[in-house]
Amino acid sequence: MTAATTTATAVATPAAAHARIAVLVSGRGSNLQALLDAIADGRLHARIVGVFSDRPEAAALDRVAPGLRWSRDARGYPDRASFDAELADAVAAAAPDWVFCAGYMRILGDAFVRRFDGRLLNVHPSLLPRHKGLHTHARALQAGDAEHGASVHFVVPELDAGAVVAQVRIPVLAGDTPEALAARLLPEEHRLVAAALALAVAGRLAERDGQVRLDGQPLFGPLQLDSAGILRPGSRH
Ligand code: GRF
Repeated sequence: MTAATTTATAVATPAAAHARIAVLVSGRGSNLQALLDAIADGRLHARIVGVFSDRPEAAALDRVAPGLRWSRDARGYPDRASFDAELADAVAAAAPDWVFCAGYMRILGDAFVRRFDGRLLNVHPSLLPRHKGLHTHARALQAGDAEHGASVHFVVPELDAGAVVAQVRIPVLAGDTPEALAARLLPEEHRLVAAALALAVAGRLAERDGQVRLDGQPLFGPLQLDSAGILRPGSRH
Protein backbone atom coordinates (compact mmCIF):
# COMPACT_ATOMS: atom_id res chain seq x y z
CA MET A 1 0.00 0.00 0.00
CA THR A 2 1.41 3.40 -0.89
CA ALA A 3 1.81 6.00 1.80
CA ALA A 4 0.27 9.42 1.26
CA THR A 5 3.36 11.51 0.50
CA THR A 6 1.75 14.38 -1.36
CA THR A 7 1.24 17.78 0.18
CA ALA A 8 -1.14 17.53 3.09
CA THR A 9 -4.70 18.53 2.31
CA ALA A 10 -7.79 18.40 4.46
CA VAL A 11 -9.00 15.03 3.29
CA ALA A 12 -10.67 12.04 4.87
CA THR A 13 -8.89 9.15 6.57
CA PRO A 14 -5.89 7.99 4.53
CA ALA A 15 -6.35 4.75 2.64
CA ALA A 16 -3.80 3.06 4.89
CA ALA A 17 -6.34 3.21 7.75
CA HIS A 18 -8.91 1.26 5.79
CA ALA A 19 -9.28 -2.43 6.44
CA ARG A 20 -8.94 -4.68 3.42
CA ILE A 21 -11.84 -6.95 2.50
CA ALA A 22 -11.72 -9.77 -0.03
CA VAL A 23 -15.14 -10.90 -1.22
CA LEU A 24 -16.05 -14.36 -2.54
CA VAL A 25 -19.04 -14.50 -4.89
CA SER A 26 -20.86 -16.91 -7.18
CA GLY A 27 -23.89 -15.00 -8.45
CA ARG A 28 -25.47 -11.61 -8.91
CA GLY A 29 -23.50 -9.88 -6.13
CA SER A 30 -26.16 -7.77 -4.43
CA ASN A 31 -24.43 -8.29 -1.08
CA LEU A 32 -21.12 -7.20 -2.60
CA GLN A 33 -22.96 -4.12 -3.89
CA ALA A 34 -24.28 -3.46 -0.39
CA LEU A 35 -20.67 -3.35 0.85
CA LEU A 36 -19.59 -1.11 -2.02
CA ASP A 37 -22.50 1.25 -1.27
CA ALA A 38 -21.69 1.27 2.44
CA ILE A 39 -18.07 2.13 1.64
CA ALA A 40 -19.16 4.87 -0.76
CA ASP A 41 -21.46 6.55 1.74
CA GLY A 42 -19.05 6.26 4.66
CA ARG A 43 -20.82 3.58 6.74
CA LEU A 44 -18.00 1.11 6.17
CA HIS A 45 -14.38 2.20 6.47
CA ALA A 46 -12.85 -0.43 4.26
CA ARG A 47 -11.53 -1.21 0.81
CA ILE A 48 -12.58 -4.10 -1.37
CA VAL A 49 -9.20 -5.51 -2.40
CA GLY A 50 -10.43 -8.34 -4.58
CA VAL A 51 -13.55 -10.17 -5.72
CA PHE A 52 -13.08 -13.89 -6.26
CA SER A 53 -15.41 -16.32 -7.96
CA ASP A 54 -15.75 -20.00 -8.81
CA ARG A 55 -17.95 -18.93 -11.73
CA PRO A 56 -16.36 -16.70 -14.38
CA GLU A 57 -19.84 -15.72 -15.61
CA ALA A 58 -20.95 -14.42 -12.19
CA ALA A 59 -22.56 -11.00 -12.61
CA ALA A 60 -21.04 -9.98 -9.28
CA LEU A 61 -17.62 -9.67 -10.90
CA ASP A 62 -18.83 -6.77 -13.04
CA ARG A 63 -19.48 -4.68 -9.94
CA VAL A 64 -15.77 -3.96 -9.49
CA ALA A 65 -12.93 -2.84 -11.75
CA PRO A 66 -11.30 -5.55 -13.88
CA GLY A 67 -8.09 -5.34 -11.86
CA LEU A 68 -9.93 -6.49 -8.75
CA ARG A 69 -11.52 -9.56 -10.34
CA TRP A 70 -10.32 -13.15 -10.08
CA SER A 71 -12.31 -16.07 -11.39
CA ARG A 72 -11.73 -19.64 -12.42
CA ASP A 73 -14.30 -22.23 -13.39
CA ALA A 74 -14.19 -24.66 -10.49
CA ARG A 75 -15.47 -27.43 -12.77
CA GLY A 76 -12.13 -27.41 -14.57
CA TYR A 77 -10.26 -28.66 -11.51
CA PRO A 78 -9.78 -32.32 -10.60
CA ASP A 79 -10.93 -31.87 -7.01
CA ARG A 80 -12.01 -29.36 -4.38
CA ALA A 81 -8.57 -29.13 -2.81
CA SER A 82 -6.81 -28.05 -6.00
CA PHE A 83 -9.36 -25.33 -6.75
CA ASP A 84 -9.37 -24.14 -3.16
CA ALA A 85 -5.57 -23.96 -3.10
CA GLU A 86 -5.48 -21.70 -6.13
CA LEU A 87 -8.31 -19.57 -4.77
CA ALA A 88 -6.59 -19.30 -1.40
CA ASP A 89 -3.32 -18.18 -2.99
CA ALA A 90 -5.15 -15.52 -5.00
CA VAL A 91 -7.05 -14.30 -1.94
CA ALA A 92 -3.88 -14.25 0.17
CA ALA A 93 -2.10 -12.23 -2.53
CA ALA A 94 -4.67 -9.47 -1.96
CA ALA A 95 -3.57 -9.34 1.71
CA PRO A 96 -7.08 -9.08 3.16
CA ASP A 97 -7.84 -8.35 6.79
CA TRP A 98 -11.22 -10.02 6.31
CA VAL A 99 -12.58 -12.49 3.78
CA PHE A 100 -16.32 -12.29 3.26
CA CYS A 101 -18.40 -14.89 1.45
CA ALA A 102 -21.25 -12.92 -0.15
CA GLY A 103 -23.34 -15.46 -2.00
CA TYR A 104 -20.39 -17.80 -2.52
CA MET A 105 -22.14 -21.07 -3.33
CA ARG A 106 -19.27 -23.52 -3.10
CA ILE A 107 -18.24 -25.31 0.06
CA LEU A 108 -14.80 -24.18 1.25
CA GLY A 109 -12.52 -27.04 2.24
CA ASP A 110 -10.69 -27.37 5.55
CA ALA A 111 -7.37 -26.05 4.22
CA PHE A 112 -8.97 -22.82 2.97
CA VAL A 113 -10.90 -22.32 6.21
CA ARG A 114 -7.78 -22.92 8.31
CA ARG A 115 -5.71 -20.51 6.24
CA PHE A 116 -8.15 -17.64 6.85
CA ASP A 117 -9.29 -18.81 10.27
CA GLY A 118 -10.69 -16.02 12.42
CA ARG A 119 -11.17 -13.59 9.54
CA LEU A 120 -13.56 -15.56 7.32
CA LEU A 121 -17.24 -14.57 7.44
CA ASN A 122 -20.33 -15.68 5.50
CA VAL A 123 -23.87 -14.41 5.14
CA HIS A 124 -26.58 -17.04 5.12
CA PRO A 125 -30.26 -16.35 4.43
CA SER A 126 -31.79 -17.96 7.52
CA LEU A 127 -31.85 -17.57 11.27
CA LEU A 128 -29.03 -20.02 11.97
CA PRO A 129 -28.91 -22.64 13.34
CA ARG A 130 -32.24 -23.07 11.57
CA HIS A 131 -32.14 -24.00 7.88
CA LYS A 132 -28.51 -24.58 7.06
CA GLY A 133 -27.84 -25.24 3.39
CA LEU A 134 -30.05 -24.41 0.41
CA HIS A 135 -33.70 -23.37 -0.15
CA THR A 136 -33.92 -21.59 3.16
CA HIS A 137 -36.98 -19.48 2.31
CA ALA A 138 -39.07 -22.46 1.23
CA ARG A 139 -37.93 -24.42 4.26
CA ALA A 140 -38.85 -21.61 6.66
CA LEU A 141 -42.36 -21.58 5.15
CA GLN A 142 -42.66 -25.37 5.23
CA ALA A 143 -41.63 -25.39 8.86
CA GLY A 144 -44.31 -22.82 9.72
CA ASP A 145 -41.74 -20.40 11.11
CA ALA A 146 -43.20 -17.15 12.42
CA GLU A 147 -39.91 -15.38 11.73
CA HIS A 148 -37.25 -15.63 9.09
CA GLY A 149 -34.01 -13.76 8.62
CA ALA A 150 -30.35 -13.74 7.74
CA SER A 151 -27.19 -14.46 9.70
CA VAL A 152 -23.56 -13.41 9.42
CA HIS A 153 -21.29 -16.05 10.89
CA PHE A 154 -17.68 -17.14 11.12
CA VAL A 155 -16.93 -19.93 8.67
CA VAL A 156 -15.89 -23.35 9.92
CA PRO A 157 -15.41 -26.50 7.83
CA GLU A 158 -18.94 -27.73 8.61
CA LEU A 159 -21.50 -26.01 6.35
CA ASP A 160 -23.19 -22.93 7.89
CA ALA A 161 -22.17 -24.10 11.38
CA GLY A 162 -19.75 -21.41 12.59
CA ALA A 163 -20.39 -19.00 15.44
CA VAL A 164 -23.13 -16.52 14.54
CA VAL A 165 -22.14 -12.86 14.84
CA ALA A 166 -25.32 -11.06 13.91
CA GLN A 167 -28.83 -11.57 12.57
CA VAL A 168 -31.70 -9.64 11.11
CA ARG A 169 -35.29 -10.85 11.56
CA ILE A 170 -38.43 -10.34 9.52
CA PRO A 171 -41.92 -11.69 10.16
CA VAL A 172 -43.31 -14.41 7.91
CA LEU A 173 -46.62 -13.09 6.55
CA ALA A 174 -49.76 -15.00 5.66
CA GLY A 175 -49.65 -15.91 1.99
CA ASP A 176 -45.86 -15.57 1.72
CA THR A 177 -44.21 -17.52 -1.07
CA PRO A 178 -40.49 -18.36 -1.04
CA GLU A 179 -39.99 -15.63 -3.63
CA ALA A 180 -41.90 -13.01 -1.65
CA LEU A 181 -40.03 -13.89 1.51
CA ALA A 182 -36.68 -13.78 -0.28
CA ALA A 183 -37.49 -10.39 -1.82
CA ARG A 184 -38.49 -8.94 1.55
CA LEU A 185 -35.43 -10.34 3.28
CA LEU A 186 -32.80 -9.24 0.77
CA PRO A 187 -32.67 -5.51 1.63
CA GLU A 188 -32.52 -6.42 5.32
CA GLU A 189 -29.68 -8.84 4.58
CA HIS A 190 -27.85 -5.99 2.86
CA ARG A 191 -28.17 -3.77 5.93
CA LEU A 192 -26.95 -6.66 8.06
CA VAL A 193 -23.79 -7.33 6.05
CA ALA A 194 -22.83 -3.65 6.06
CA ALA A 195 -23.32 -3.40 9.83
CA ALA A 196 -21.54 -6.67 10.61
CA LEU A 197 -18.56 -5.87 8.40
CA ALA A 198 -18.35 -2.42 9.99
CA LEU A 199 -17.82 -4.11 13.36
CA ALA A 200 -15.26 -6.45 11.85
CA VAL A 201 -13.17 -3.76 10.19
CA ALA A 202 -13.28 -1.65 13.34
CA GLY A 203 -11.36 -4.48 15.02
CA ARG A 204 -14.23 -5.21 17.40
CA LEU A 205 -14.97 -8.78 16.34
CA ALA A 206 -13.05 -11.96 16.97
CA GLU A 207 -13.73 -15.66 17.35
CA ARG A 208 -12.18 -17.92 19.94
CA ASP A 209 -13.00 -21.55 20.71
CA GLY A 210 -16.15 -21.36 18.63
CA GLN A 211 -17.45 -18.27 20.39
CA VAL A 212 -17.80 -14.76 19.01
CA ARG A 213 -16.09 -12.00 20.96
CA LEU A 214 -17.17 -8.39 20.73
CA ASP A 215 -14.70 -5.87 22.14
CA GLY A 216 -12.91 -8.81 23.77
CA GLN A 217 -15.98 -10.07 25.62
CA PRO A 218 -17.76 -13.33 24.75
CA LEU A 219 -21.08 -12.86 22.98
CA PHE A 220 -23.68 -15.27 24.30
CA GLY A 221 -26.07 -14.84 21.40
CA PRO A 222 -26.02 -13.19 17.99
CA LEU A 223 -26.30 -9.41 17.81
CA GLN A 224 -29.64 -8.32 16.37
CA LEU A 225 -30.01 -5.58 13.79
CA ASP A 226 -32.61 -3.01 14.77
CA SER A 227 -34.69 -0.86 12.44
CA ALA A 228 -32.16 1.98 12.69
CA GLY A 229 -29.41 -0.29 11.41
CA ILE A 230 -27.73 -0.68 14.81
CA LEU A 231 -26.52 -4.07 16.00
CA ARG A 232 -27.63 -4.69 19.56
CA PRO A 233 -27.21 -7.59 21.99
CA GLY A 234 -29.97 -10.09 21.32
CA SER A 235 -32.62 -11.03 23.81
CA ARG A 236 -33.49 -14.13 21.81
CA HIS A 237 -31.29 -16.75 20.21
C1 GRF B 1 -27.93 -14.24 -0.63
O1 GRF B 1 -29.23 -14.36 -0.15
C2 GRF B 1 -26.99 -14.99 0.27
O2 GRF B 1 -27.34 -14.95 1.59
C3 GRF B 1 -27.12 -16.37 -0.28
O3 GRF B 1 -27.22 -16.21 -1.67
C4 GRF B 1 -27.73 -14.93 -1.95
C5 GRF B 1 -26.72 -14.25 -2.79
O4 GRF B 1 -27.16 -13.04 -3.27
N1 GRF B 1 -26.06 -17.21 0.17
P1 GRF B 1 -26.17 -12.02 -3.97
O5 GRF B 1 -25.31 -12.77 -4.97
O6 GRF B 1 -25.34 -11.35 -2.92
O7 GRF B 1 -27.09 -11.05 -4.65
